[in-house]
Order: sequence, then C-alpha cells, then structure tokens
Amino acid sequence: MASAKYLSIFSPATKQQRRENFDNYWEFTQQHGGQFFEDDKDLEKKRARLKHFRDHPVTLRQPLANPEAFYRNYVEMQDDPSSLDRTTLMLTCIYKFARHEWVGIKAAWDAVPAMASSCTVEDKISRVHLAEEFCHIRLFDEMLRTCGLDRVEWVPLDPIKEKIYEQFPKFPELLMAPPAFVTELMGVTFYCHLYRLFDEVLVEEPEVCQRLKELLDEITIDEVAHVGQRRNFIGPIGMKISKALLKPFYILFFNDIPEIRQLLNVNRMIKDGITFDFNQLPAHIIQRSWVPSYCKT
Ligand SMILES: [Fe+2]
Ligand SMILES: [Fe+2]
Repeated sequence: MASAKYLSIFSPATKQQRRENFDNYWEFTQQHGGQFFEDDKDLEKKRARLKHFRDHPVTLRQPLANPEAFYRNYVEMQDDPSSLDRTTLMLTCIYKFARHEWVGIKAAWDAVPAMASSCTVEDKISRVHLAEEFCHIRLFDEMLRTCGLDRVEWVPLDPIKEKIYEQFPKFPELLMAPPAFVTELMGVTFYCHLYRLFDEVLVEEPEVCQRLKELLDEITIDEVAHVGQRRNFIGPIGMKISKALLKPFYILFFNDIPEIRQLLNVNRMIKDGITFDFNQLPAHIIQRSWVPSYCKT
C-alpha cells in the first residue's frame, strides 16, 4: 500500500503555521480564479470554464419523462418522494442543496467587506471565496439545464431560515469559524457521494453523466480548498468544537432535504466527514486544489 500523503483535516497547527498558510492560500486563490469581477460576483477563469460548457452543450439521449415532476417538487417536496424516479429525485436534491448554499452566500456577501475595504489577507480571501461560491450556483444551474431544466428559479427560503442565514456571517470569527468549516466539509462529503450517484443514476446517459461530473469537479476542487482554508481560521479549542458539531450539523442539514435518504447514506457521509483527509480524493482534484501545509506528511 502506498504511504499516505496527507494527514487528517483535524491535525493540529500552530498560530505561525496558520499565518503562513493564509498567505499561501491567498497566492493560490488568485492564480486559481484569475481576475476578480466584484460587481458580477464572478472570477475570470471560472467564467471562462462555464462558457466552455455552455458553448459545447450536451443533452440527454432520452429527455426526462416527466419534467413537471421536477418542477412540482424542486422548491418544496409535494409528492411522496418514494413515488418519484431516481433521476428526478437526484435533480431536486441538487437544487435543494445548492439553494441552501445560495441563501448562505448572498447573506454573507452583504455582510463581509468589499475588496476595496478589505484590510487583511483573511478579508480578501473571504471575498474571493464568496465569489467562487456564486460561480458554483451557476455551475449547479448548468447541471439542471444540461438535463433540460431551463425554467429553474432560485427561490429564497422561508423568512425564519433566511433570517438565520443573515445573522450567521455577523457573528464574531471565533464563533463563526467552526460551523463555517463544518459546512465546507459537509459540502465536500456531499459532492463525493453525489459524484458516485451520477454513475448509478445516469447509466443510460453516458454523455450527460460525464458532463455533470465535469461540472461537479469544478465545484469540488474549490470546496476542497475551502475546507483547508476554513480550517486555517481555527485554533485547538475551535477544532474540538468543530468535531463535536459535525454529526449534529450533517443530520440537521440533510434532514431538511427529504430526497437525501432516498439517494444517499447519511451515516456513511457522517463517517466520511469525521475521517476526512485529503488522501481519499482523486488525484485530478487534489492537483488543482489546495491543502494546508500541516495536513501534508
Ligand atoms: Fe460551496
Ligand atoms: Fe465553499
């Protein structure tokens, strides 16, 4: 067996190491995204990548049998989930996951300093991080369009949940850092499981399966880097809190998406979150992503 290259994401790090890793991440992220278009909440390289996908569209061999089943259930589940086919369930699930992301980032975008008023490297990192997240929503939207769903609207959550998401970025960094880190980790776990689900659900649709994987890879590469970056905000006590938050967070979040239990194994996702290290990820993801120095052997 090849020796492991990376250590657990919960590995300890000194303040000095974390300082150096912020600088290193800042270098990485500027390279990775290219020019930052703040007014558009967009990044040069991400924009070009999305354009490439749109200029070379792929379509289903067999169009969705019942797109109305998607449109009826994508914002709120109206039908009994067990009555829906797995493709529809997978697509409504993707939308619901992405919708939570979208609500979270639009609240955070208004709460964090703009680039011109960002004094620290951490502030600048956070601003670009959010622009990347907006790019992800465009990539998710492209996944749905690839499956013929071009009437999708991004709908706010109910007012109480919207308020919770609005308050979250206003918390002091010390309180916000562990849940923000766990949320990134949950994203990576979900994307890894979703990637495998594509193979299972889209057996008869190899072109679309491949395209959805390419779109998802663009997201996962960023999210893997975000896991390390958000971990970098956290000291030893915060890491203990993060570990304790992981299971309840995953359960709470995934319980809110009724499709999840039909499609994915939540216990397995929790286990993968707790034992997360970068060794489990495919080489083509790691190569384009970022890993903190203290997670390397
Ligand atoms: Fe994200
Ligand atoms: Fe992220």
